[in-house]
Amino acid sequence: MEKKEEAVRKYFENALAFDEGYESKGGPDFIHRIANHFFRPFLLGRRWTEFFSMIDFQNDDTVVDVGCGSGRYIIELSRRGIKKGTGIDFSSDMINLCKQRAGELGVKNVEFSQSDINETVPLSDILYSLGFLTYYKNIDSYLDLFSRKARRLIILEFPGESENIKGAILKCLCFAWAKMRSLKVNTHSKKYIDDFLSEKGFYPVKSVNYFFSWLVAYEKKL
Ligand SMILES: C[S@@+](CC[C@H](N)C(=O)[O-])C[C@H]1O[C@@H](n2cnc3c(N)ncnc32)[C@H](O)[C@@H]1O
Repeated sequence: MEKKEEAVRKYFENALAFDEGYESKGGPDFIHRIANHFFRPFLLGRRWTEFFSMIDFQNDDTVVDVGCGSGRYIIELSRRGIKKGTGIDFSSDMINLCKQRAGELGVKNVEFSQSDINETVPLSDILYSLGFLTYYKNIDSYLDLFSRKARRLIILEFPGESENIKGAILKCLCFAWAKMRSLKVNTHSKKYIDDFLSEKGFYPVKSVNYFFSWLVAYEKKL
């Protein structure tokens, strides 16, 4: 594993600190508590709504969540009727939380793999990755991997332009927060990603720019 990936893995070993943002709960320290109460819930809530209105799945689809974190999305999709979900994350704490949550909810058609995505991404009908590209500056190898592992659809979420003044303020808060946590975060150009994936046969079919993030669906066209 490369140094930049090791730093990200270390940071995400505390799964609850991350996951509590989904429920406006606390966190292990003052900074997390502020973030989890005041700005992360806006972002996470809006992304949830946008993602589920964008994803177009069929009942026989297999779906992979790259950098699944605490597994909220892939567990929900598995409950909503996809054939099988796979969540991949290199943080053991995140994967333990995923397994616990799936078990508590009785969701059986989902599995989790604690591994580096460079090693294990199965071929699937749909591949998505939310809040993952943020942590990497050079994303070509990831985009290339995604294009080889998705049969039909790729959905990506990444920080880019701010939607409005509220988005710009949230972006400053998030980036300052990451800096305080010594976590390097990056914005990406939608055009760059569109062009890269188009070369591989995946074209942008739906997109939404909310706060300061892009959520884009790329469909394979033969
Ligand atoms: C911000 S979290 C997002 C989690 C989830 N997608 C969500 O939106 O709730 C990013 C996740 O990506 C995982 N991750 C980052 N780089 C990875 C890599 N190279 N291989 C596997 N997982 C990785 C981290 O451990 C972390 O859980």
